[in-house]
Amino acid sequence: MTIGIDKIGFYTPNQYVDLVELALKRRIDPAKFTIGIGQDKMAVAPLSQDVVSMGANAAAKILTPEDKAAIDLVILGTESGVDNSKAGALIIHRLLKLPNTARVLEIKEACYGATAGLQYAKLHLLQNPKAKALVIGSDIARYGLETSGEVTQGAGAVALLLSAEPHILALDLPSSYYSEDIDDFWRPLDQLTAEVDGKYSTTAYIEFFEKVFKDYQAKTGLTLEDYAAITYHLPYTKMGLKALKQVLPMASDEKQTELQQHYQQETLYSRQVGNIYTGSLYLALLSLLNNDRVLKPGMRIGLYSYGSGAVAEFFSGKLQPNYTKYLDPIYYLELFEKRQKLTIADYEAQFKAQLEPIAPGQVLENQDPSAQFYFAGVVDKKRQYKEIK
Ligand code: HMG
Repeated sequence: MTIGIDKIGFYTPNQYVDLVELALKRRIDPAKFTIGIGQDKMAVAPLSQDVVSMGANAAAKILTPEDKAAIDLVILGTESGVDNSKAGALIIHRLLKLPNTARVLEIKEACYGATAGLQYAKLHLLQNPKAKALVIGSDIARYGLETSGEVTQGAGAVALLLSAEPHILALDLPSSYYSEDIDDFWRPLDQLTAEVDGKYSTTAYIEFFEKVFKDYQAKTGLTLEDYAAITYHLPYTKMGLKALKQVLPMASDEKQTELQQHYQQETLYSRQVGNIYTGSLYLALLSLLNNDRVLKPGMRIGLYSYGSGAVAEFFSGKLQPNYTKYLDPIYYLELFEKRQKLTIADYEAQFKAQLEPIAPGQVLENQDPSAQFYFAGVVDKKRQYKEIK
């Protein structure tokens, strides 16, 4: 029996900032953002999209009534959750009309939360092979206006449907992980913007990668030659490339070229969206699968997850026969094309508004035609979500 990813859904809000325009406004050479960092656009969530509504939107895209009936586990990985106690996954579970006989929870460990959810789901499905599990990574990345992290913001959610005998990626059972208490990135409870030791975070990301990659190699005997591609958590697209370059010398020249070509395909969506924290690794996977015409069923993909603080994990999976039938690349082309560009002044105004609490009684309207669910405001301190019928 195999366990793995049966379907992947993605949602990002319909507005973005052009990073060349942002660079010019900040009096920075645009090449620093587009080449040095490797980002072209960043998604901006309006007030009416939060991690709950984005997560529900990502999942609604992929779930059939049969999937819904089989789901008995729902996990939301997020580091920008909307409540200090209640799991946002419970609201998503209600919005999607999922069975009450499901276990529903939220996991936090920076960008690693969705991977923790995926690994939990894998073990759960090994024991319950007839069930399906929904794992969502949903986040809004905020560092602040005119900070060095500003160019690495973003917003979006990825939904993974996991099952036995999956249609897209069958996960290999082993996994290698490494954890250490470090202060590379964190967000105090009273802040909506993250604190970061940027340079330290980039070296930690790479050091942790080398540790888990080598451990996985020792555990499984798999070498770089065994992977068609390695997908990375992408806080920005240059970051994964730096990690890949650390291990490339272990491979033949031909394999080095191949891995770098596939890497370009996995970065295409991230370049348009920015960092979506918990969902970023899976957005890279979706981008690779939707855009790479060289991949074939049976090929092995490596996955590197990194959550600041920090926890890293390396694992892998094999592409399944006919996996392309379960993807929808045209939908995502259109999703990106239909987005609206914000002026820098509009983006700054929205950013400032988002740092303020929602006024009691303030009613928010949906602004995104591609959204099925949105956050409508707060009544009696309870968050209200609406579905567009
Ligand atoms: P910075 O100080 O603004 O940038 O911070 P820099 O001076 O290091 O320059 C960046 C790159 O641009 C450099 O290339 C420059 O050479 C190049 P590199 O040496 O890295 O290859 N550059 C240019 N290239 C072309 N033309 C030019 C030009 N000028 C410079 N004219 C930093 C960059 C990423 C640190 C900052 O944006 C930041 O702090 N971001 C947030 C933290 C982050 O994303 N860390 C990544 C690892 S941690 C992680 O992934 C976890 C995370 O997702 C959170 C979580 O787990 O929850 C963040």
